[in-house]
Amino acid sequence: MKTIGVLTSGGDAPGMNAAIRAVVRSANYHGIEVYGIKRGFRGLLEKNYEVLDSRSVSDILQKGGTFLKTARCPEFNTPEGVIKARDIINDLGLDALVVIGGDGSIRGGAELAKQGIKVIALPGSIDNDMGYTDYTIGFDTAITTVMHAVSNLRDTSSSHGRVFVVQVMGRECGDIALHAGIICGAEEVIVPEVPFDLKELSANMKRSMARGKDHYIILLAEGAADPFEFTEELKELSGLNTRLNIIGYLQRGGSPSSFDRMLATRMGVYAIDLLMEGVENVAVGIKGNDIVHEELYKAVEVRDSLDRDLYEIAKILAV
Ligand code: F6P
Repeated sequence: MKTIGVLTSGGDAPGMNAAIRAVVRSANYHGIEVYGIKRGFRGLLEKNYEVLDSRSVSDILQKGGTFLKTARCPEFNTPEGVIKARDIINDLGLDALVVIGGDGSIRGGAELAKQGIKVIALPGSIDNDMGYTDYTIGFDTAITTVMHAVSNLRDTSSSHGRVFVVQVMGRECGDIALHAGIICGAEEVIVPEVPFDLKELSANMKRSMARGKDHYIILLAEGAADPFEFTEELKELSGLNTRLNIIGYLQRGGSPSSFDRMLATRMGVYAIDLLMEGVENVAVGIKGNDIVHEELYKAVEVRDSLDRDLYEIAKILAV
């Protein structure tokens, strides 16, 4: 193992920089040179890279986003794109590629692995939507951002007796809504994994307000419903003053939390350890407090399943 590449791909996530730093410094420690590929798979297809050393990754640990930049790349998602990427990796003389990104990026890594490239993937995504790992890099920071936003909204909700629907990200996964709902003390958590009934919701809202609640926060996962229709229908059904807040990209940036810095760092170092041991074509994850790895093709197959116990806790506590 003499030279490797590292890239970030898909949506940026806080902690990606900490992961790159750990990969570069750990690789250099073992005498491995690192090419930082810019703008994900698109940059790879354009041979857009720079050699990274320990100094190149100074002062990035605490920064959100990704200093290598990222992109979504339709060209790479074709058989021709994958072959072209494989040939470029071989031309550059890269012995392995570390891919940091969400499930789409890990899928891309798996395609390259099928073409004989050695790949190690790290889960970088705010969505926490991969079943092989308890946490993805960026999720903790995102729910912390949502927590602060909802705390502010709660002031207005209480002051005006208003209902707030707060839409959060997560694609088809309800983890951001569920975890944020619990740490914010939301009255309702609506996730794609569990069907909901607007009439029942509206009845709950009216009952709670009648019982003296002066605030009502509904955490709505983006994959669960159209936020505008959802809010409008609830407003009509309940007759309560109901407003929508879409947190959007505010929850994707920002300085990574201590948890994400630690997770990304441990995963980055582990990725290099795996390569040193001759392990390849795996995705790095965390189970409990242990950093683990799973075969790439299995990692992309296992979807995240909602933690039903946590969901029950959210319901029990939202009285
Ligand atoms: O995967 C991260 C994520 O922020 C999702 O939560 C969201 O659905 C999506 O990316 C938005 O994608 P884009 O950056 O392409 O708008």
